[in-house]
Amino acid sequence: MSDTLSSLIEARFGERVEVPGALERDPELTGLAAHRSHRSFTSEPVPPAVLRALLAAAFSAPAKSDLQQSCVVHVSDRSDQERIAALIPSMPWIAGAPVLLVFCGDNRRIRRICELRGTPFANDHFDSFFNAAVDTGLVMAGFIRAAQAAGLGCCPLSVVRNHAAEVSRMLGLPDYVFPVAGMVAGYPAKERRITPRLPLDAFVHDNCYDDSGFERWIASYDARRHVMLPLNPDRQRDPARFGRAEFYGWSEDKARQVAVSERGDFGEFVRSKRFRLD
Ligand SMILES: Cc1cc2nc3c(=O)[nH]c(=O)nc-3n(C[C@H](O)[C@H](O)[C@H](O)COP(=O)(O)O)c2cc1C
Repeated sequence: MSDTLSSLIEARFGERVEVPGALERDPELTGLAAHRSHRSFTSEPVPPAVLRALLAAAFSAPAKSDLQQSCVVHVSDRSDQERIAALIPSMPWIAGAPVLLVFCGDNRRIRRICELRGTPFANDHFDSFFNAAVDTGLVMAGFIRAAQAAGLGCCPLSVVRNHAAEVSRMLGLPDYVFPVAGMVAGYPAKERRITPRLPLDAFVHDNCYDDSGFERWIASYDARRHVMLPLNPDRQRDPARFGRAEFYGWSEDKARQVAVSERGDFGEFVRSKRFRLD
């Protein structure tokens, strides 16, 4: 990777950031800044030892109170992978990915530890679910980064939660264990372009939350992103409902996306795993 950190930041956020010279080619930082999701892979298998090492690196992530509330199911059986992929026909590449993982929040272990030690588990409320979900997100971020450092590409799959009960049954997930996201991984079949992000000011606030630049951020981002990654004008979401937009940018696409309810039953699924969400 020959890109410098400042060139990657400029590609991502559309602005120059003063990067100290010593950091310009730091492999960890340039690796993070060069992130791309990958959905197509060569047929080269990922050696089990590589996968094990990447998972060990990923599970080295920090964990809330050192409670260690995450786990992963490696779907190594090809027919199970195909059965999960069949639930998601809009993403046919899942079936052929060399690796399919499902990262889960795991609040079961600490409850069993309480049983083992004869103490009550006095945190039967939303925060227990939330902590396990956050821990798992950190593990996933570490896995993505580790995989990229090893020359692999990945794509998380929140879409497995569209079929949470079914996936949970297939993977034998017990009470207090829930899928956060799937993850495909393998050696990338092609280069992917950087996906630009909103201006850095939309994410980074100084002392106090401030979105007074909101309309400016969205307009400039829509325009910049349209130049870098234009959306196919023939694939506007639901023109019968929303009309045909003359300029179809990111914000129009995302607004139309979330105008359709998705996974409204996920809370019910999580409750079925016996979490109390209040
Ligand atoms: C938690 C999470 C879930 C995601 N779920 C999906 C998914 O189900 N299908 C998919 O194609 N991409 C999924 N993605 C990938 C995003 O679409 C991708 O990160 C985003 O478009 C930005 O592109 P980039 O990762 O290349 O920067 C997911 C990403 C995250 C962080």
